[in-house]
Amino acid sequence: MKFEFIEDFLKEAKKNDNFRTLRNIVPFSARKCIADGRRCLNFSSNDYLGLSNHPDVIAESTKWVNKYGAGSGASRLVTGTIDAYENLENEIAEWKGAEAALIFGSGFLANSGMIPALAGHGTEVFADKLNHASLNAGCRLSDGDFKRFRHNDLGHLEKLLEKSAGSSRKLIVDETIFSMDGDMSDVEGLQKIAQKYDAILYLDDAHGSGLFGARGEGLANPSACDIAMGTFSKALGSYGAYAACSKELRDYFINSCGSFIYSTALPPAVCGAISAALKIVQSPESSEIRTALQKKAAKLRSSLQELGFDTGESSSHIIPVVLGSSETTMKVSKFFYENNILVTGIRPPTVPAGKARVRITVNAIHTEEDMALLIKKFKEIKEKIS
Ligand SMILES: Cc1ncc(COP(=O)(O)O)c(C=O)c1O
Repeated sequence: MKFEFIEDFLKEAKKNDNFRTLRNIVPFSARKCIADGRRCLNFSSNDYLGLSNHPDVIAESTKWVNKYGAGSGASRLVTGTIDAYENLENEIAEWKGAEAALIFGSGFLANSGMIPALAGHGTEVFADKLNHASLNAGCRLSDGDFKRFRHNDLGHLEKLLEKSAGSSRKLIVDETIFSMDGDMSDVEGLQKIAQKYDAILYLDDAHGSGLFGARGEGLANPSACDIAMGTFSKALGSYGAYAACSKELRDYFINSCGSFIYSTALPPAVCGAISAALKIVQSPESSEIRTALQKKAAKLRSSLQELGFDTGESSSHIIPVVLGSSETTMKVSKFFYENNILVTGIRPPTVPAGKARVRITVNAIHTEEDMALLIKKFKEIKEKIS
């Protein structure tokens, strides 16, 4: 059957250079892959520490699949929970310095489940304008009244809270590091505001987990917020997500969060990978790797700025090069691809109209030569597009 609205949607996306296609990829490491038949240096992966290929992660994942099987059978409330999963949650809680932790199938499931569980009818939900789509999905799925404050503008957040309708419950939803901009929120400021207005503070630390803090515990400290959510799908190299919170909140989510209750538990192979990655990120060697990674990112950022590129407010390993139009963005992304470098173009609706960009992610295994090559190619493309 043919539907006009689908045809119109696809036509419009193509007309605006916003039509997306799936690229074929053969991954070798966080650094190298074959993309659509071309061997490329990868500057687009979120595998920031290269753990997806770490031998300990693969070995532990294999051990768990051999011991527990390929699937977990059902939701943990239906078939019960393997003791290894509960031990893993205790390890996560310890890592985060929280009373308890709960594992979710993915970051998207965690955000789209916990937020509606917290924001029932009559709740006002205050969210940063640039929050990730999964957080927005959670806000929209909730029965709460969804309000957005200007990006990283805590003054605007306070204004909205002051004007608040006197609701019995308030929820602030924010990220620690913004996935498409690489800038950071003011966690301390958010904590103060949440306390002042008696609001629940929910922080998504997907891009901070494993990369910040003395033991890689991230930027969302459970003593500063009520729910520190993070993922295992980025720096921790595999898949899944966690909430670090109080024991009471954990019980609450087990009893009220649809994406936990009605979704099959993560497969054992993934939990084994998470378990090994957690040990690695807490090691002293990882601490040195984290410091070196941020230094490498800072150097790249200043080189790009010297070339006249707009890297926004980035202060992390995620560096956007904001180019404006989708057309220029895709031209730049194609140029890099033709030079065997994967630098993905990010277009609306993922980012606001007029703010299309290529998003560079620096990881621990990029070499000095990789960084020099990337800068050299940016120099070349600058001349072509200016
Ligand atoms: C800030 C943020 N939250 C949540 C998610 C979703 O996590 P996952 O990929 O594990 O579903 C992402 C992934 O891109 C993200 O960037």
